[in-house]
Amino acid sequence: MAVSTSSIHSTLRSSPKLPAATRLPGSVSGHRAVLSLRRGDLDLPILASSSISLRSAGNRSRISAIASPVTEGTTRTADSKVSTIVEVDLGNRSYPIYIGSGLLDEPDLLQRHVHGKRVLVVTNTTIAPLYLDKVIKALTHGNSKISVESVILPDGEAYKNMETLMKVFDKAIESRMDRRCTFVALGGGVIGDMCGFAAAAFLRGVNFIQIPTTLMAQVDSSVGGKTGINHPLGKNLIGAFFQPQSVLIDTDTLNTLPERELASGLGEVVKYGLIRDAEFFEWQEKNMQALLARDPSALAYAIKRSCENKAEVVALDEKESGLRATLNLGHTFGHAIETGFGYGQWLHGEAVAAGMVMAVDMSHRLGWIDDTIVKRVLNILQQAKLPTAPPEMMTVEKFKTAMAVDKKVADGLLRLILLKGPLGNCVFTGNYDRKALDDTLHAFCKS
Ligand SMILES: NC(=O)c1ccc[n+]([C@@H]2O[C@H](COP(=O)([O-])OP(=O)(O)OC[C@H]3O[C@@H](n4cnc5c(N)ncnc54)[C@H](O)[C@@H]3O)[C@@H](O)[C@H]2O)c1
Ligand SMILES: [Zn+2]
Repeated sequence: MAVSTSSIHSTLRSSPKLPAATRLPGSVSGHRAVLSLRRGDLDLPILASSSISLRSAGNRSRISAIASPVTEGTTRTADSKVSTIVEVDLGNRSYPIYIGSGLLDEPDLLQRHVHGKRVLVVTNTTIAPLYLDKVIKALTHGNSKISVESVILPDGEAYKNMETLMKVFDKAIESRMDRRCTFVALGGGVIGDMCGFAAAAFLRGVNFIQIPTTLMAQVDSSVGGKTGINHPLGKNLIGAFFQPQSVLIDTDTLNTLPERELASGLGEVVKYGLIRDAEFFEWQEKNMQALLARDPSALAYAIKRSCENKAEVVALDEKESGLRATLNLGHTFGHAIETGFGYGQWLHGEAVAAGMVMAVDMSHRLGWIDDTIVKRVLNILQQAKLPTAPPEMMTVEKFKTAMAVDKKVADGLLRLILLKGPLGNCVFTGNYDRKALDDTLHAFCKS
């Protein structure tokens, strides 16, 4: 059996402690603090941000009735006609992320980003009966010149492959999509990644719009331009960086999402708080029940803040030369669980949750974080109904085998994202005591 929470605690108590977490000098609302880093200790500058001030274009400043934090028990509903807009700042490839309730009923939000007259909606068998008509209506409302085709793919990670991708190209070619057409991804991360890659490759690149419908896709995968498919030998090995024209997040789509999928997305939300946004983490501690109850304002706020964090990281490091890697907190352990346990057993966010607990445990063993952070991480993930330890079948050997081929291995050295200092700070480093990693693996695995 995997080690229990109480035994993790008792192991952790023996590790050296840091002073209690303090507020960063730069963590005043609206300011950013760039931490200067010690060479050899940290491999790259990490931006700590407790309240993001994104550069907003003109009237696309942050806005709205839903932009202010809600607290536990809030019953306030979001104003359906007010949306938050987060701008992803990438020069001439910048784009807006619209967030709000009822946005699929606002045709202009979609139509203003459609180039040309031909649109191909890419979706799957689960999402099509729920939202395809609505999206087609929004694309064509008041605009008789637009013609919309759709391709409905089988549902599941197992279909995120070349064969399914060809179905998108088949449809695009059969329906004579031209260079000025627009691809629309309607679905979760699987559809978003596949449609984005199809748009990147079709006629060497056509416009595309993301309409993410899972929390995972709304807080993470639809933002930042990573697109691709799986190869039988590994996940996401074939792909391209390709940014969309816009991302339209209608939070109402979450009402049909299964509970487990919702919780999986929350794993990534917690991640943003831990790596760079302590104030957001504190907000989550107060609002987790509202999020699980799908309170529209709480969800809209969590999505907005997650997108702001991701947008800021992507704007600074689009092609992942360093900083963007910090978005992978818990993912090295998590991917090992996904591989070792078999894809599809645990959802991505579930594996990441257990992986984050392991990364946090290791950070504490290294003496880099206070034990209050360890307790708060366990607590928030338990509240979110996410796992806090790997499945029983995971052994130290299984972890080591999977981690040896991690994308973050450079020159034989496994670099990890670990927490260091007050809540909301992390490092991406290969400079740590190997014993701490071994101790963490042994603490969480039976053999
Ligand atoms: N590109 C990136 O930066 C990035 C980041 C994270 C994850 N990903 C990728 O995203 C994928 C995981 O995404 P996911 O968690 O969204 O999984 P998913 O796309 O498989 O969706 C999960 C399930 O929910 C269903 N669904 C989607 N929206 C729904 C809705 N509104 N109502 C009811 N059911 C709905 C889907 O049909 C599917 O069965 C993985 O392939 C992963 O590699 C990419
Ligand atoms: Zn992830």
